[in-house]
Amino acid sequence: MRIDSFEVSKIVGAFLCAFLVIVGFRVALEIGEHDKAPEKPGYVLATPEAAPAAGHSAGGAAPAAAPAAPAPAANAFDPKAVADAAASGNAQAGQKIFGKCAACHSAEPGGPNKVGPNLAGVVGRPKASHAGFTYSDALKAKGGDWTLEDLAVFIHNPKGFVAGTKMLFPGIADPGDLADLLAYLNSVK
Ligand code: HEC
Repeated sequence: MRIDSFEVSKIVGAFLCAFLVIVGFRVALEIGEHDKAPEKPGYVLATPEAAPAAGHSAGGAAPAAAPAAPAPAANAFDPKAVADAAASGNAQAGQKIFGKCAACHSAEPGGPNKVGPNLAGVVGRPKASHAGFTYSDALKAKGGDWTLEDLAVFIHNPKGFVAGTKMLFPGIADPGDLADLLAYLNSVK
């Protein structure tokens, strides 16, 4: 009997040993995978690795981020509102604002292309379509006509709307100025 129970302990012990070895192997494998992970591109990793990290920091970051997010949304640039406001915009005030564009653009019908294309009749014309002007591939690829809304987005933040545009202009931030400017552009045909 004694020997039997001794044998049993040995068997149990052997199983435990094997179990530990297997677990140990797995852990080692997992550690190996984690070690390898940073060699992969960050974006591949981002989902599995960043998610727990975000979870940890969420306690502190989320409450701070949550009120911050609606704030820009509330003041967010609204191109549709600008396009609507352009209908009752002040074209004369817009002509003055066009002074910022005039170094590069003529808005006279039949006027020349300068650093940028002539803008007479730009409202409603296909993007990147003015004869004799060499547009960037980025703007050519954009497609569609220049609606007031697209113009508002572009003139507000040229590179934001057309990454890679040749138009080196930081943009007009004020929605009222933009609406007046669009009213002016809409008046030159
Ligand atoms: C520093 C020169 C420069 C200034 C300043 C500038 N632009 Fe431009 N603009 C360009 C260039 C260059 C292009 C061509 C962009 C491209 O091909 O990517 C362009 C393109 C445009 C287009 C697209 C026209 C089309 O035929 O598709 C519009 C609209 C436009 N500009 C409006 C404006 C307005 C409005 C202002 C002033 C608020 C302004 N730009 C200021 C250089 C300028």
